[in-house]
Amino acid sequence: MSDAVDPTNDDLQSAPEMANEIASNARAPFADPARLAKAKELLRALAVSHTNAGLYPTTHPLVGQSLGELVTAVEALRDDGFSSVTINIYKRTLFVENQVFPEESMTHRKTVEDLLAHGISALTLLATFNLRDATALVEALSDDSIADLEAARRMFERRGVVGVELSETALFEEAGEEEEQENKVAARQTYDAGVEAMRDVETQTKLGKVFDVEPLQHMVSNMLDNLFRDPAAVLGLTAIKGHDDYTLNHSINVCILSLSLGASLGLDNVGLRSLGLSALLYDLGKVRIPEDILNKQGPLTTDEWHIVKSHTKEGADLLKRIQLVDEMPMVVAYEHHQRHDLQGYPEPQGDQEQHLFSKVVALCDAYDAMTTRRPFRREIRPDKALAVLMQGRGKAYDPALTKSLVAMLGIYPMGAVVHLDDQSTAVVFRVNTDDLLHPRVKLLADAHGRWREDPEVLDLRVVDPETGEFARSIVECVPASDAGIDDVWQYL
Ligand SMILES: [Fe+2]
Repeated sequence: MSDAVDPTNDDLQSAPEMANEIASNARAPFADPARLAKAKELLRALAVSHTNAGLYPTTHPLVGQSLGELVTAVEALRDDGFSSVTINIYKRTLFVENQVFPEESMTHRKTVEDLLAHGISALTLLATFNLRDATALVEALSDDSIADLEAARRMFERRGVVGVELSETALFEEAGEEEEQENKVAARQTYDAGVEAMRDVETQTKLGKVFDVEPLQHMVSNMLDNLFRDPAAVLGLTAIKGHDDYTLNHSINVCILSLSLGASLGLDNVGLRSLGLSALLYDLGKVRIPEDILNKQGPLTTDEWHIVKSHTKEGADLLKRIQLVDEMPMVVAYEHHQRHDLQGYPEPQGDQEQHLFSKVVALCDAYDAMTTRRPFRREIRPDKALAVLMQGRGKAYDPALTKSLVAMLGIYPMGAVVHLDDQSTAVVFRVNTDDLLHPRVKLLADAHGRWREDPEVLDLRVVDPETGEFARSIVECVPASDAGIDDVWQYL
C-alpha cells in the first residue's frame, strides 16, 4: 500500500519543467552553467581557428589570435579538473565528452565536415595542448592531401604533436552486445531467485513460522554485484511488471530502485545491503491483514482503514521476532508510511524523524506502485508518476531524494514507451544523463504502425545539421499496454 496520490491534477510539472528543476542534480560534467560555457568556448575557438586558417596562412596575426584562444579554452577546462577533454562527432552532431551541443553542431558545421573528411570523429585535447599542437591541428584540417585518420596521425607524428589524440568516436561503444546480454540474463536470474525467496518468506510468515533471512541477503548481495557491473541491466529489471505476483515483483522492484538510488547517493556497501534488505521486507506486515480488506475496491470503512494501517507495526513486530542483527528492516517497516512531513502513520513519537532508508523506500514504493497496472486501476506513465512524486516533495517525500530519483531514472526512464514526433513508437533503451529529455530509444513501430522485426537504436540527441534542431523528439509517453506491449523488459 503506497501513499501515491491520485494523479488527475493538472498542476503536474511538464517534462521540460522537471528537467530544468533537477538540472543541478544531474550527474553530467557540464550540468554546471559555467562549465557548459567553457565547453562552448572550446568549440567556438576551434571553429574560428579552423575558419581563419582556411583564409590566411597560420603566421597571420588573426590566426595566431584564434589559436591562442583555443589553447586558453583548453586551459580553462583543465583548471576545472579536466585532465583531457574529448570532442566527439556522432552522426554530424557535436559532443564535448558526452554532452550534446545542438546549436554548435549547426553553427560549426564546416568544422564538423572537415574533421570527418579527414577521418577524425574524436579529438582529445590533453592538458599539455599548446600553440604548436593547435597550429598543426588546423593545418591538418586545411590539408587536402590528408584523407584519413592514419594520414592525419602520421602528420602529427612528423610535427611532434603530443597534446592531441585523434581517433574514431567511442562515445556510443558500450560493453559488447554479447556482454550486455550476459549481464541482462544474470540480472534476470537474480531477480527470479529473489521472487522465489520472497514467496518463501511470505508463505512461512503466513504459517506463523520464522523465516530464514539468508536467501534474501544473498539476493541483495548478488543484485549489488550486478548493479556495479552493469547498472542499466539492473534498472531495466524494474520494467518487469508481473500481473500474477504483484506483491512479490513489487518488493523486488522496490529493492532494485532503492539500491540504485542508494548507490547514487554514495552509500557504502554495508549501508546498501541494509537498505536492500529493508526494501524487501518493509511491507511484510501485510500478511497479517485479511486479503478481502487489502483487495477491497471501494473506499475502506474507518475500522478497515485502522486495520490496514496496522501493517506497519505488525511488520516491525514480525521482524523483531526473527532477531535480525540489523535493525533497519524493522525501522523501515515501522516508518515507511510516516511521510517526510510526519503527517502519516504511525504517529511519530517525540521529535522522531523518518530515517533516510524509510524515505528512500517510501519513494521507490510509490513510484513502482504507480507505474504498475492493477486489476482495479491502470498503470500511470513513468514521466507522469515522476511528476506526481515531484509534486509531493516536501510533503509525502523528501525533496532532495525526490530530485535524486528523477535524476537517476531520467524524465523518460528505461522501459518507458514513447511516441516520437514522426509518429513512430519507441521504447526508452538507455537514459542519457547529460540530456534527460533526449534518451536513446529502440524504434519499435514506424509512423504507419508497422512493427519492426529488428528494432534499431536511435540516439535522440542527434541533431539535424540543417536546422540545429533535434532530428527526432519525444512527443509523449504512453502506457505500454496502449502500445500493445506486454513485456517491455525484452527490449532493454
Ligand atoms: Fe506499506
